[in-house]
Amino acid sequence: MGGEEGIDWSSWTKSLEQIGVIASQSTENSAIMVLQEGKEGTVTNETLVLIDNRAGNKILAVCRGGFGYNDALRTSAYTPGIAYAKRGHGPSSSKEYFGFRLVVIGDVTDGTVKQNTMIIAPGSPVYRFNERLNPMNFLYRSRFTVGYYAKGHKSWTIPLMADYLSHHIGVFGVTGSGKSFLCRYQLIPLLREYGYDVLVLDWKGSDYAPYYPDNVISMGDVELDDSAVVSYLAEALGYFGGGDSGMRMVSYLEEVISTSEWRGRTATETKERLLYNLLDVIKEDNLEPTGKLGRWGYIYQRKAMRAFERLSPDDLKPLMGTMKPSEIIQLLREKGVLVMDLSYGSKEQKLSVFLSLTRYLKRLMEEKNELRIALLIDEAPQYCPWQPRGLEEKTTKTLIELAALGRSYKLSLTLVSQGIAGEIGINAAVRRNLNTLFIGRIHPLDAPEAERYFANSFVTSDSLLRLPEGHFYIVGKVNPSPVPLLMTFEIPEHERVGWGGG
Ligand SMILES: Nc1ncnc2c1ncn2[C@@H]1O[C@H](COP(=O)(O)OP(=O)(O)OP(=O)(O)O)[C@@H](O)[C@H]1O
Ligand SMILES: [Mg+2]
Repeated sequence: MGGEEGIDWSSWTKSLEQIGVIASQSTENSAIMVLQEGKEGTVTNETLVLIDNRAGNKILAVCRGGFGYNDALRTSAYTPGIAYAKRGHGPSSSKEYFGFRLVVIGDVTDGTVKQNTMIIAPGSPVYRFNERLNPMNFLYRSRFTVGYYAKGHKSWTIPLMADYLSHHIGVFGVTGSGKSFLCRYQLIPLLREYGYDVLVLDWKGSDYAPYYPDNVISMGDVELDDSAVVSYLAEALGYFGGGDSGMRMVSYLEEVISTSEWRGRTATETKERLLYNLLDVIKEDNLEPTGKLGRWGYIYQRKAMRAFERLSPDDLKPLMGTMKPSEIIQLLREKGVLVMDLSYGSKEQKLSVFLSLTRYLKRLMEEKNELRIALLIDEAPQYCPWQPRGLEEKTTKTLIELAALGRSYKLSLTLVSQGIAGEIGINAAVRRNLNTLFIGRIHPLDAPEAERYFANSFVTSDSLLRLPEGHFYIVGKVNPSPVPLLMTFEIPEHERVGWGGG
């Protein structure tokens, strides 16, 4: 279909099945369709239809919001029909009909989708597509596709405007809605095909690491940069009790990290060296003219010793990694997909690894290098919650900077989260940078936020709350349709949940 010769619409409409007729009070963007007798059993929400508009054009539209009507069963008054029903008799179906609201995707008269500006004439016939006539071909021609249209055929893969993949992606849905599967089976392969190497940050180490056994590195292998070491240690040492003196001591710690040989061969040795060097730096800064340690020097040293008592050798393990961010990126280039297993260690340790790695990526971009790297961040609220605290403030800010730089230097972010906004969601300033969203089954708390993304497209939070796993609406820039489309994808039999399985 499509092409220079145009479409032979008369043979088209002959081969399509008519399912209904446009009712009164239509506009150029939506209309009500009355279904032909019996079609209510086969036409469902999200079915794609072609309107043979009597006003003169062909319109691609989608069914959203069905209804059944029977005048004999009106409940606003006592009617004979109600009286029958009350006694358990079947009502007459002579005044019964079914319908759907049609939401216009666009004018497809010449084979590609354009904004429809013509009023849809009441009485126009409405057809349903069949397997051979793929409506996705109207939308956009692209070798990059994702899944398939959920209420169509498996061959109806959804074309993407791939240029926008580097304008960042959000994947949202409650637990078990299929986010990680979407990433593994669709988004990672898609980004690879698009020419990006994909670095996955696997917060729990269970969603991705087991599936890429040859492409995993552990967070403990990563050498933290000085700044990440300081923020990690400061957090682990409780900021030396906080306050002005605590701040002073963090600056001593900074000096130790940036100027001394503090890494030992073991975690225990590292701990000893850190403390020894810290006491030394404190001493030098607090000498009295007489050459003796001043009063404040004693206080700082005592605080340092007390704070270090809280550290176990395990806390120092993240400082023992030897793989530099540059080496990780090199490995990523070799492997194409690299999963960073963040499963061991505290939240501070995980975020420090993230900071170390992303600081390097940021530098590369500031030096005007094109990266062609996709960073896939599962459990995104851990990095950029709605109200960031402590290290989260740094990681949130970093994500905002990466998003801005990434648009120019081809670093694509994919943030995966159970919630969109508020307490369960991700930080609003980060979210504003996500130009493409995959929205699966949402949490009731997210209903108001989700509805904003679906304004005027007649997808209600009612249906978003009920989406089955593996179903996602595509919203935003990569979506070639002006209204969100419902996609799904195949997973292998052994991955399915439900009874009957192993
Ligand atoms: N396309 C699909 N078709 C059928 N089933 C699917 C599909 N995608 C996912 N599932 C099922 O849904 C289950 C949950 O998927 P997944 O682990 O991706 O959820 P999640 O959204 O990442 O959850 P969490 O937030 O807890 O990590 C899977 O075990 C799988 O069986
Ligand atoms: Mg998951």
